[in-house]
Amino acid sequence: MSVRKEQYFGSTDSSYEAAVKHHSGTKSLFSINRLEEVLKAILLDVPKVFKLLLLVAWVGLRHSVKLFLPAQRKSIKGQIALVTGGANGLGKALCLRLAREGCSVAVADVDFSSAQATAEEVRECTGGSVKVQAFHVDVGDFNSVAQLKQNIEKTLGPVDILVNNAGLLAILSLSEGTPEDVQKIVNVNLMSHFWTIREFKAGMVERRRGHIVAISSVLGMIPFGRTICYNTTKTAINGLMASLNEEFYLNGLSDELHTTTVYPVGIRTRKQFVDLMHELRLRMPWHSPEYVADRIVDGVLENKTDVVPSYFYVRIFIKYFAILPTTFIRLYSDIFVGKVPQLTE
Ligand SMILES: NC(=O)c1ccc[n+]([C@@H]2O[C@H](COP(=O)([O-])OP(=O)(O)OC[C@H]3O[C@@H](n4cnc5c(N)ncnc54)[C@H](O)[C@@H]3O)[C@@H](O)[C@H]2O)c1
Repeated sequence: MSVRKEQYFGSTDSSYEAAVKHHSGTKSLFSINRLEEVLKAILLDVPKVFKLLLLVAWVGLRHSVKLFLPAQRKSIKGQIALVTGGANGLGKALCLRLAREGCSVAVADVDFSSAQATAEEVRECTGGSVKVQAFHVDVGDFNSVAQLKQNIEKTLGPVDILVNNAGLLAILSLSEGTPEDVQKIVNVNLMSHFWTIREFKAGMVERRRGHIVAISSVLGMIPFGRTICYNTTKTAINGLMASLNEEFYLNGLSDELHTTTVYPVGIRTRKQFVDLMHELRLRMPWHSPEYVADRIVDGVLENKTDVVPSYFYVRIFIKYFAILPTTFIRLYSDIFVGKVPQLTE
């Protein structure tokens, strides 16, 4: 089935056509007739329902057994990894760890001289056993990402592991800064994921091998009223990655192409950012970039779809956060986060 372009860009002058109901008669969700229809459908589909129950039991059993067994790990030795924002902070730690796993690494960053320094450090720590190269890119710009793809393929080869790490640690709420600031945060933190995935996914599908990693944030799960732009981009990434994972499944690729979304808490990276967080007395766990990079690459080796690189209690809290009532969340926030002031006027 093909969809014409005008079907999804259809808001031209006076072109609107209201939908008509496809089924006649009103159907209340809880009427006897409705219940009868549902029961009939279930009875007609007994084999399917039975299959579903068996599948649920099997998945439950598999998960329970897995809890007590050491996780199986894949090898990424010899693969080519691209780390955006790889010059500094978490990106740099990821480059070093991926190289230690035997990957060739593309260190891509808007800060090219630091990317070169990171590439040199990777070379030194691996004794030249893997290929490494620094690349200049502005991930918020599609053309720059398209150029990056060509440059990497010319020097290193096709990318197997794409790590979308570059991001602006923007302490900016919705009514602060200029519209250009807001646009930049959206471009670097969110649009970059669209551009890199569009560019690198096709080759992965063709070769039936690939892993796409997105560095989201705990703030993509937990709303925080002082960093609305940042939170919004990170929340959107979660939706993008979950949907991408489903696309791989629908296209029969879920055994070969994998996604991992990462939700870090505090990472001691950029001094200016960490100092500000401490000044605001935000009480949250802080980890070194190396600790976080290790948890992320471990997650990739185990094909985990979600990684919270922090302590056990943080992982449990994040997992069940969405079902907690708002009053509990506010109480928690009052105790642990405190009343953070508006950050810029
Ligand atoms: N530091 C934390 O506490 C923390 C917490 C949760 C999530 N994160 C996320 O982790 C990721 C890495 O953060 P970090 O703490 O290492 O930040 P950082 O500022 O230390 O490093 C970010 C890197 O991205 C690069 N970059 C920025 N804009 C770019 C662009 N347009 N094109 C290419 N590269 C660009 C920078 O030059 C830098 O090297 C980010 O996505 C961030 O949102 C960080």
